[in-house]
Amino acid sequence: MAQQNGHPTFSSRIGFILVTAGAAVGLGNVWSFTYVAGKNGGGGFMLVYLLTLACIATPVFMAELLLGRMGKASPTMALKNLQESVGSKLPWRLPAWLGLGSTILILSFYSVIAGQVMAYGGEALQGGFAGWSPEQVTALDASYKSGVLQPTLWAGIFMAMSALIVSAGVREGLERTSRYLMPALFVMLIGLVGFAAVKGDLSAAVDFLFGFNEMKLSPTIFMEAVGQAFFTLSVGVGGIMIYGSYMGADVNLPRATLWIVLMDLLVALLAGMAIFPLLFAHNMDPAVGPGLVFVTLPLVFSEIPGGALVAFVFFLLLTFAAITSSIALMSPMTQRLVEAGWKRSKAAWFVASLAFAFSMLTTLSFNNWSDFYPLAFIGLDHHTFFDLIREGVNNIVLPFGGLAFALMIAWGLKRDDVRNSLPMQEGGLFSLWYGALKYLVPIAIIALFISVI
Ligand code: TRP
Repeated sequence: MAQQNGHPTFSSRIGFILVTAGAAVGLGNVWSFTYVAGKNGGGGFMLVYLLTLACIATPVFMAELLLGRMGKASPTMALKNLQESVGSKLPWRLPAWLGLGSTILILSFYSVIAGQVMAYGGEALQGGFAGWSPEQVTALDASYKSGVLQPTLWAGIFMAMSALIVSAGVREGLERTSRYLMPALFVMLIGLVGFAAVKGDLSAAVDFLFGFNEMKLSPTIFMEAVGQAFFTLSVGVGGIMIYGSYMGADVNLPRATLWIVLMDLLVALLAGMAIFPLLFAHNMDPAVGPGLVFVTLPLVFSEIPGGALVAFVFFLLLTFAAITSSIALMSPMTQRLVEAGWKRSKAAWFVASLAFAFSMLTTLSFNNWSDFYPLAFIGLDHHTFFDLIREGVNNIVLPFGGLAFALMIAWGLKRDDVRNSLPMQEGGLFSLWYGALKYLVPIAIIALFISVI
């Protein structure tokens, strides 16, 4: 990693874009996008999702990158520095601290899902999936989730791998790998979409995802769409701020934002177009929940020639995508501990262990506790620990963090300072972005919170 004023920066523009896209693209694009879209009925959700991604999550993503670039430290320190620079009395650090806590909660379920992805890779390595019937596929998902040992073990392996990478400080290595693996994931997904289009029910899938005429809209759908938009861009907890702090001065921030968001969206759309055609061809229910990818994706591999090998490569690439995101999730807390004097490796293993301990809540939510709804007494029936953690973080904490970042940029800092740090010309695109942060984002997020209370 090159140095700039003593702070490490990524060596090139394309390197920055690919590495940050690596932090954004992950299980959110393949696993949660498809299951949340499926659960919320497709079309209406998609429309709101695309709108919020473009008008709310993307401006906030750019705001978070910029806060990192301006503050040049771990999120809590960066925000404190910025607060002092403008002499504000408000606790700017607060959202960063909330963010630190929520990274652990995100990792707690992320590791369980990534663990299952890895386990499926192992299954494929043993020749699994090729020629399987839909019943066999569904049975594998059920049997994986019926035990506690296997999911726990795989979640542990996933967190340990992440901790190893973070403690070794091999960001540069990842930068190089992302250059190849991200395009590889693209190519692979395009191939799967092609196959699904031929073998599956493409028109039913297109109708489901883009049939905006049969919309069902409710505050919950809005909330899920906003939550998914924030989650998929990794925005709201300070993870992206760290990437901003590494960003070289030569990187064009708005253009980088555009590329990253487009790549992220494309991966999600491709995943949807690989999964839904086969789901409808097999008359399966799009609303099955978090297990959706695990009962549908293997169907592609079951029919594809050389299915086991294709499956193995796919799950391997998805594991890689999940690891680059999990590193992004571990960074804010790890960096904060390092600033407090901890050794990097100790900090990384501590963060990973904490996430692993909490991962039990998700493992059990898919298992013995699948009928246990801890907050049923306040009306959140049918919400397991996993549902509460995922929905609580995605739909409430991330938008709250995003709201705070938007307010800091548009109301806290000086307009000219913001514009000069980008740097951008006054007018046009800058005004649009600034206006979105100043009015649209706060109003939309506050309205959303009010509507669901
Ligand atoms: N965006 C990642 C995904 O889609 C997950 C992720 C990484 C994340 N870092 C984050 C989500 C920070 C929220 C906040 O899989």
